[in-house]
Amino acid sequence: MLNPLEHPVCLEFPLRLEETAWAQHVPFAMFIISAMRPRVFVELGSFRGVSYCAFCQAVKSLNAPTECFAVDTWAGDAHAGALEENVLDDLRAHHDPLYADFSRLVQATFDEALAEFADASIDLLHIDGFHTYEAVRHDYETWLPKMSARGVVLFHDTEVRERDFGVWKFWAEVKSERPHFEFLNGYGLGVLAVGAEIPDGLEFLFRADENETRLIRDFFHQLGLRVESAEKVKAQQNQIETLHDYIEVLKTYEKVIRSSKTLRAYRVLKNEGFGGLMKKGFGKSGKNE
Ligand SMILES: C[S@@+](CC[C@H](N)C(=O)[O-])C[C@H]1O[C@@H](n2cnc3c(N)ncnc32)[C@H](O)[C@@H]1O
Repeated sequence: MLNPLEHPVCLEFPLRLEETAWAQHVPFAMFIISAMRPRVFVELGSFRGVSYCAFCQAVKSLNAPTECFAVDTWAGDAHAGALEENVLDDLRAHHDPLYADFSRLVQATFDEALAEFADASIDLLHIDGFHTYEAVRHDYETWLPKMSARGVVLFHDTEVRERDFGVWKFWAEVKSERPHFEFLNGYGLGVLAVGAEIPDGLEFLFRADENETRLIRDFFHQLGLRVESAEKVKAQQNQIETLHDYIEVLKTYEKVIRSSKTLRAYRVLKNEGFGGLMKKGFGKSGKNE
């Protein structure tokens, strides 16, 4: 059974905490690095890098022998929307000083990046790209030959049934063939053992009975809620800062308007009529600027 005291890294607070649907799974990301000690970890779909940096943070904290790769075009997709231009630069500014000695951000499509990895070389793969049934199936099938004998694949959004999300449907198919575990919180995270061996540290997940499953889910859910609450507070603080910036701009604008000759002329015209305007010298150049 899981003994959290053997994996204290899952209690670490994430250093990278931007807007994301992944916040609740940060403790499990850190845990699985501790339990598996993968040699190669690849993430398909990193966006602002919250999930990816959680894996990297655990690798660094544990001094684990893991090479990490984040693959993304950083162009966005129909579900994530088009990404702002500075998303990748912002991620690099956080990532490079901390993790560049064992991790690389690969700007490419998932299909283009395939050629960079030898067959049977990846121990841990996280699929979090485009979420239609066809896309997730394609990503899984094209990357499966790259998985090692102790390979584990994570699928995010297994519980989302809105719009054309189809991970839930693919997950239902694929989990019936392999040892698996699913977290239902945080839009769902599927954990699938795809190799001939199950990594020792993860056996308890795949062998959990009903009661253990409930406890494991609850344990990681509770830890995840702490991370998600902090993420929401940070997002609100950012919104408040943006509002403050707008208010400052409006105040400056108001000052400019109040001190403008046109506005003062309008006030005089309104209160004192045309005669007032002439008396106060409006219309003569160089006056009342
Ligand atoms: C849901 S977001 C990833 C969220 C991220 N894991 C997090 O922690 O918040 C999906 C990302 O996948 C990328 N993406 C989708 N399809 C892709 C493809 N075929 N090749 C490369 N990147 C892709 C998008 O650019 C987007 O940044």
